[in-house]
Amino acid sequence: MKKFAIAVDGPAGSGKSTVAKAVAKRLGIIYVDTGAMYRGVAYFCIQQGVSPLDEAGVLSLLKDIKMEIQPTSDGQRIFLDGEDITSKIRTQKIGQGASQVATIQTVRQKLGDMQRDMAKNNSVIMDGRDIGNFVLPQAEVKIYMDASVEERARRRMGELATKGEKPVFEVICEEIIRRDENDMNRLYNPLRQGKDAVYLDTTAMAIDDVVETIIRITEEKIGEV
Ligand code: DC
Repeated sequence: MKKFAIAVDGPAGSGKSTVAKAVAKRLGIIYVDTGAMYRGVAYFCIQQGVSPLDEAGVLSLLKDIKMEIQPTSDGQRIFLDGEDITSKIRTQKIGQGASQVATIQTVRQKLGDMQRDMAKNNSVIMDGRDIGNFVLPQAEVKIYMDASVEERARRRMGELATKGEKPVFEVICEEIIRRDENDMNRLYNPLRQGKDAVYLDTTAMAIDDVVETIIRITEEKIGEV
């Protein structure tokens, strides 16, 4: 099988990870969740008593972070100092912290290098905010996935509820808007739809339809996988 890469970018809650995971399974390729890496950095900083907003503090910790990413048939697991933190990083607080550490250029360079390394010898579907434009600009397929704020908030509510959190809809909407602003307006590698990315509005689409659409686009670009 020819090596290829699918880059999936878009705002928080647009359905990237659910869809990318399913596409990876169908095509037998590796799924890389880059947001988890930014969450891992934020988690480590908070654990060490450093605010994700404290740039100098975050930078002083960066060399001590021992983060390991393990692709699995069911997605990806992330380890910090050997501890599996995959589910611990899926909170609103860590998501917000991730968006904050993601504004720091040195953090982006370090994680971007790790991400490129994972795609070097494998076919991947990688999701994030800057994959098509910065991390894998040569990716054969680029998708920009979007959905309305209300729909993304509804999806996030469901996700958080299964983890025992009791979110308030309006608060989740506000957090999504704040996170969009942060991710789209930062100086380094902001979230933008690339000129060569296919725009998919998933607001009224079922997950399976989005998965099928991405597989069709991929086969159109590189032939049958
Ligand atoms: O996809 P997510 O919600 O897990 O991502 C958490 C934050 O990490 C997101 O708000 C911005 C940052 N991020 C980034 O800047 N670049 C990426 N490629 C992935 C995530």
